[in-house]
Amino acid sequence: MSKETYDDQNLFEAESGMQEQANQATRANFSSRLGFVLATAGSAVGLGNIWRFPYLAASYGGGAFVVVYIILAVTFGYTVMISETAIGRYTRKSVIGAYNSLTNSKFLRAGSWITAFIPLLILPYYSVIGGWVCKYFVDYLIHPASHAAGDTYFSDFIGTAASSELWFLVFAVLTIIIILGGVQSGVERASKFMMPLLIIIAIILAIYAVTRPGAMEGVKYLFIPHLEDFSIMTVVAAMGQMFYSLSLAMGILFTYGSYMKKNVNIEKASYQVVAMDSSVALLAAIIIIPSVFAFYGGEPEVLSAGPSLMFITIPKVFASMGLGRLAGAAFFLLVLFAALTSSISLAETCISTFEDELHWNRRRASVLLFAIMIGLGSLSSLGYNVLGNVTVMGLAFLDFFDFLTNSVMMPIAALFCCILIIKVTGFKLISDEIKLSSNFRTENVYRIVIKYIAPIFLVVILVSSVLNTLGIITM
Ligand code: PHE
Repeated sequence: MSKETYDDQNLFEAESGMQEQANQATRANFSSRLGFVLATAGSAVGLGNIWRFPYLAASYGGGAFVVVYIILAVTFGYTVMISETAIGRYTRKSVIGAYNSLTNSKFLRAGSWITAFIPLLILPYYSVIGGWVCKYFVDYLIHPASHAAGDTYFSDFIGTAASSELWFLVFAVLTIIIILGGVQSGVERASKFMMPLLIIIAIILAIYAVTRPGAMEGVKYLFIPHLEDFSIMTVVAAMGQMFYSLSLAMGILFTYGSYMKKNVNIEKASYQVVAMDSSVALLAAIIIIPSVFAFYGGEPEVLSAGPSLMFITIPKVFASMGLGRLAGAAFFLLVLFAALTSSISLAETCISTFEDELHWNRRRASVLLFAIMIGLGSLSSLGYNVLGNVTVMGLAFLDFFDFLTNSVMMPIAALFCCILIIKVTGFKLISDEIKLSSNFRTENVYRIVIKYIAPIFLVVILVSSVLNTLGIITM
C-alpha cells in the first residue's frame, strides 16, 4: 500500500472515527481480513464447486472450459465481487437497505427486492441437498462402502418422504444453530474451522485419486483442451457457473461487505476468495474425473450425468477402490463442510435483511427464516415422493427453484447492480471505498467491465439459459 493511501486512510479514520465507532457498536463485524476471506470463501465454495464444476468441465471441452472459467473468474467475477463488497461496506446495510440509501428510483429499489429474495429461495432447496450429503456422510461412517453403491440406493432414499424430510431437517437445524451464534462466534468461527479442514481433505483425496491406476487418462482429459468441444456455449456455461460459484448477485456480498472493517483491503481479500474458490473447484475435478476414468473408463454420459454423478456414480467408485469407506467418509465430510458454509451465508444474508428491514432481533428473524426453510424446502424434498406428480413448468420443485434463481433472477440482480453503479453511485463512490484500503490499480479495467462487458454478458446468459431450459436451444 502506498504512503498516500495510508495517509488517506488515517485522515479518513480520524474524521469518521466516531461515526465508525457508533456503527461498529451496532452492526456486527468480522474480526479481521482472514475472517472475511474465510467466511466469503466458505460461501463461494459449495456444492457448485464440488459437483457442478467437474461435470461442466467434463461436458464442455475439458481444458478449454477450465481456461475460460479461470479467465472469467479473475476478471469479470472479481470485478462484480469488489463492487458488491464495496457498496455493502459503504452503506453498512444489506442489499435492500443499501439500494434504499443510494437511490429513490422505484425501479432500482424493486431490483433490490428481487436480489434479497434470491437467498430466501435458494436456501430451502440447498438444505434439501445438504440433507442428502449428511445422510451419505453418516452412511460411510457406519456402513461399508458397498452400502451406498446399490443401483437404486439414491432413488429409494429420496423416494421415501420420511427419510428425505428427516435429513433435510438435520441440515436445516445445523445451519440455524450456527446462525444463532452470531456473526463472529457463529459464521466466522464455523468458517475458520471448516474451510482449512476442507482444503486439507480435498488435497489428500486429490493425491489419492490421481495415483489410482488409469487415473492419468482422466487428468489429461481434464486439462488438455478439446477444441472440437469448444463453442460459444462453453463461455455461457462458464459464466453462469462462475456467478453461482462465487455467490455473486444474490446480496451475500453486500451483507458480508457491510460486516467488513474499513481497513480491510477489499482487492486483496477478493482475489484470495477467487483463488480459493477456483482451487477447490479444480481439486474437486481432479478428485472426481480421474476416479471416474479409472473405474468407468471415462464414458462421456457417466461424466456429464448431472446430480447422479455425486450420489450414484461416485459411491460406486468408492465401493470399488481400496480404502473406499474412508475415502467416502472423507469425501462426503468435505462436501458437507462446503454445503454448510454456503448455507450459513445464505441464511446470514436473509437474517440481516430481516434485521435491517423489519428491525427484528436475531432470534426472531431466525425463527421466521426456519419456518420459511421448512415450508419451501419440504416442497422440494417431497417433490421426489408424495408430491412426485406435481411439477412447475415441467420441472420438479427443486429443479424449478434452482432454475428460477440461477437462470432468471441472478442475471437480473446482477444487471440491477450494474445499473446502480452506472446511473446512481458512479464509479467514484466505489473506487473511493476501495481506495480506503488499497491502490486500486485496475480501476480502468474495472470501469470497462462494469459499463460494457458485464451488461452484454448478463443478457446473453439470461436469454440463453432460459431458452435452454424451455428446450428451445440445447446447450
Ligand atoms: N457458491 C456456492 C457453490 O458454489 C453456491 C451458493 C449459491 C452459495 C448460493 C450460496 C448461495 O455451491
